[in-house]
Formats: sequence, C-alpha cells, structure tokens
Amino acid sequence: MYDKTIPFDAAIRWIKKETRDTTTYAIKIINREIQRLYAFKPGQFNMLYLPGIGEAPISISSAPIDNEIMHTIRIAGDVTTHISRLNTGDVIGVRGPFGSSWPLEEIEDRDLMIIAGGVGIAPLRSVIRHLLVGKRRKKSSIQYQTGKKIILYGAKTPKDMIFRDEFPRYMDAFEVFLTVDKADPEEYWRGEVGLITGLLNKVSFNPLNTVVFMCGPEVMMQSMVRELMLRGVPGEKIFISMERNMNCGMGICGHCMFGPKFVCKDGPVFRFTDIEGFLGIKEI
Ligand SMILES: Cc1cc2nc3c(=O)[nH]c(=O)nc-3n(C[C@H](O)[C@H](O)[C@H](O)COP(=O)(O)OP(=O)(O)OC[C@H]3O[C@@H](n4cnc5c(N)ncnc54)[C@H](O)[C@@H]3O)c2cc1C
Ligand code: FES
Repeated sequence: MYDKTIPFDAAIRWIKKETRDTTTYAIKIINREIQRLYAFKPGQFNMLYLPGIGEAPISISSAPIDNEIMHTIRIAGDVTTHISRLNTGDVIGVRGPFGSSWPLEEIEDRDLMIIAGGVGIAPLRSVIRHLLVGKRRKKSSIQYQTGKKIILYGAKTPKDMIFRDEFPRYMDAFEVFLTVDKADPEEYWRGEVGLITGLLNKVSFNPLNTVVFMCGPEVMMQSMVRELMLRGVPGEKIFISMERNMNCGMGICGHCMFGPKFVCKDGPVFRFTDIEGFLGIKEI
C-alpha cells in the first residue's frame, strides 16, 4: 500500500473547459506501482496538491470503469485558481482516494433519483458513468440496472450547466430533467426555469421504492430533503454528499468535524438520517 499522507505525482493528460469557471482535468498517475494499487469508488475524492500553494479536496468525476481519473473543478480560491492555470503535461500532486462512496448496494432492484446543483454534479457523474458505461459494455458486475433512473440537475444559467454536452448520452439510461434559475432570452434553452425543487412536480416516481443520491449547495439539499420527505421518501433512503473545509483528508487534523463525525472519513457521503441534526449548523 502507498502512503496517503504523501502526495504522488500525476500528469494532466487532457483538459476540457465546461463553463466559464469550471474545467475537467484527466490525470494519469506517473508511478507504475501506485497506478496499479490506486482504486476508488464513485463518490470518493482526492486531495490535489500544488507545492507552495496548498491542497484542495476534489471529487473524482470519472467512474472506476473509465480508463482515466477525472476531476471537475470550479475556481473558488487560491488552489483552484492555480490549478486553472495548468496545461496538458503539467504535473500535480495527489493524495487519495479518501472518504465514503455512494451506496450502490442500496439501489439494487430499486429506483434511483440523482439530484445535483451546480458543481455538485461532479461526484454524481461518477455514478452516472458507472451505470451508463457498465450498461453499454454489458458488464455482469453492474447489478443495479433494473429500476427506473432519474436525474434532476439545476444550475444558475444554461451557460453554468456542467457536462451539458453529455446529457443526451445520459438519456440512454436516465430520465433527465434540467432547470436553471435564469435563462436570458437570447440563450437557447429547452429545459425548465425555476428552482430545482420545482422539478419534483414534473417527475413521476414511487417514493417508497426510490433511493436518492444528492449533492449541491447545503440550502438546496435541505429544501430538497424536506420536499422529498413530504412526498413520502423515507429519510433512510436519502444520501447526501457534504462539503467542509479540509486539511488532512483522513480523520487526523479535526478540520472537517461535523458533530461527532468527520466529513473526510465518515463522509462525504452520509445517510440523511445519520446527520440530520447537524445540517445547517456552521462550524460544528
Ligand atoms: C469532499 C469534497 C469534495 C469536493 N469536490 C469538489 C469538486 O469536485 N469540484 C470543485 O470544484 N470543488 C469541490 N470541492 C470544493 C473545493 O474543495 C473547494 O472549493 C476548494 O477547497 C477551494 O480551495 P481554494 O484554495 O481554491 O479556495 P479557498 O481559498 O480555500 O476557498 C475559497 C472560499 O471557499 C471556502 N471553502 C473552501 N473549501 C470549502 C469547503 N469544503 N466547504 C465550504 N466552503 C469552502 C473558503 O472558506 C473560502 O471562502 C469539494 C470539497 C469537498 C470537501
Ligand atoms: S480533514 Fe482532517 S480530520 Fe478531516
């Protein structure tokens, strides 16, 4: 096993600009032995490191079935700004993978509703690709293909919609519902305009048979959980991916404490009923 306290080098293989402030990077681990040992599950994250600048936790937006490790990064501050200046061939430090993953065993023989806001679709793209590519390749290991699958995704404007060119492909396996807060009249937009919670009125789903995977701004997740539960979805079947400031990424420094839990180690993916008492409370 390699040491997760020490970053290993990965080279940027290609870069794709998603929106004005968000970019996807495919990286390749340089050390062959680490390349062989490195394995992740959808929902996990890496710490990305730039010497002299710092480290940031970033979800893995590709699926284990993909040949590449991808990260989709929105510029927020120092580290992400410096990452945005890198080019193909540049080397970045990586520690990981860390954290819990989306509980795929929960969706066997059930319906799945994926709900994402903004860049929150990045860790969910890993599940989407896992199911989509697995279905195309008829992988026998993918046993979660029986139920109905729905994606609800909301962004500020059509131009802020990440993976927009990929949604037509997602429709092979998912019913896709998109919404934006605002669409300028000159922008071509065929989806809904309004809050993501409004999409729940557009979809037909069986609340008692549906498992929800959700990631996005905390206020969005709180109101979405409320709406889902009002419609009869049990809290135990709702899973959310949380964000907190992080330092070590592995349950040592205490930076990401969330009540009695650590977001880096016990999360970022939590069962809603395990954390409902701490949601919305800052700095716990
Ligand atoms: C598990 C996990 C997965 C993530 N996945 C992604 C991803 O796939 N793509 C992506 O673009 N971003 C992701 N983020 C958010 C990303 O880590 C932060 O935006 C990043 O750390 C900012 O680093 P920075 O040095 O660029 O900005 P900083 O200067 O460190 O931060 C800019 C501002 O954002 C605030 N901030 C930083 N980190 C967080 C945080 N975790 N929660 C709340 N506020 C924060 C800071 O307080 C500051 O106000 C994830 C965060 C976590 C915890
Ligand atoms: S980031 Fe150090 S304990 Fe979670």
